[in-house]
Amino acid sequence: MGVLDRFDLTGQVAIVTGAGTGLGRAFAHSLADAGCDIVGVGRRPEPIEAVGEEIRARGRRYLGLGGTDVTDSVQVNAMVERAVAEMGRVHILVNNAGGGGAGRGKTFVELTDEDWHTGIDTNLTSAFFCSRAIVPHMLEQGGGRIINISSVWGYRGGNNNFMYTISKGGILQLTKSLAMTYARANIRATCISPGIFPTRDDPDRAAALAQTLPGGRPGLPTELGPLAVFLASPASDYMSGQAIIMDGGIAPAGVTPAGVVPRAEG
Ligand SMILES: NC(=O)c1ccc[n+]([C@@H]2O[C@H](COP(=O)([O-])OP(=O)(O)OC[C@H]3O[C@@H](n4cnc5c(N)ncnc54)[C@H](OP(=O)(O)O)[C@@H]3O)[C@@H](O)[C@H]2O)c1
Repeated sequence: MGVLDRFDLTGQVAIVTGAGTGLGRAFAHSLADAGCDIVGVGRRPEPIEAVGEEIRARGRRYLGLGGTDVTDSVQVNAMVERAVAEMGRVHILVNNAGGGGAGRGKTFVELTDEDWHTGIDTNLTSAFFCSRAIVPHMLEQGGGRIINISSVWGYRGGNNNFMYTISKGGILQLTKSLAMTYARANIRATCISPGIFPTRDDPDRAAALAQTLPGGRPGLPTELGPLAVFLASPASDYMSGQAIIMDGGIAPAGVTPAGVVPRAEG
């Protein structure tokens, strides 16, 4: 077997939550390019169906489960049941759905109960529900891979940025406990922690960001896809519980994800 064969996902099936847009769409594309069939999950049916066209054009099977809210355990259980029933098996789960909207722009004391629950539910409870639903299936089939999506914000505090940092920090811990609990059941759990990857067309914001980042540019969603393929494939079989930061050097440079011009010297 050649080294590149170890990245081959032919015949595997991956559930990707939030597959219709941004990073989730890029993960779905890359996993499909590596041979994977895809189950795309999200609330809005239109982007989920649009990604389906792109996956099928790559010659892969695709099941679109739009209309699924991953913060609702009843809907998540039904989604996993349908994925297994229609695709036969599910080998990979990418817990990508999430976002930083909850409580944005508010100070700590202005955060409401609803902001708290929305932030935790969107980014952390969703990954818990999806993982809890898929683990029995993975145990039955003798293993699987769970890839969680955290953020560079998951490692640090934020100035009035509570809901995102807390929920993404929780994702790191969910990853480690899943990894430890199921290591002998051949279920690997890993995590991708992206830096800044603009997913909407906003050239002004991208240009402003570029000035503040070590490499002079933010990341491209397509640059994250190969990392998901690595973590989903036998190439990373001896890796579990780890989170990998891909951020163009933001964290090692000590730069805040909100952007601070890195100094060239002293
Ligand atoms: N882009 C970045 O720079 C960056 C950096 C670090 C981490 N991340 C993380 O990467 C992930 C993807 O972010 P993105 O930038 O690609 O954002 P995005 O374009 O807003 O994508 C988020 C996706 O999640 C889905 N989603 C959100 N809430 C959901 C729910 N309750 N149920 C089902 N689906 C839901 C959305 O679809 P619907 O609205 O149709 O449901 C959407 O497709 C997030 O977890 C984010 O925190 C992103």
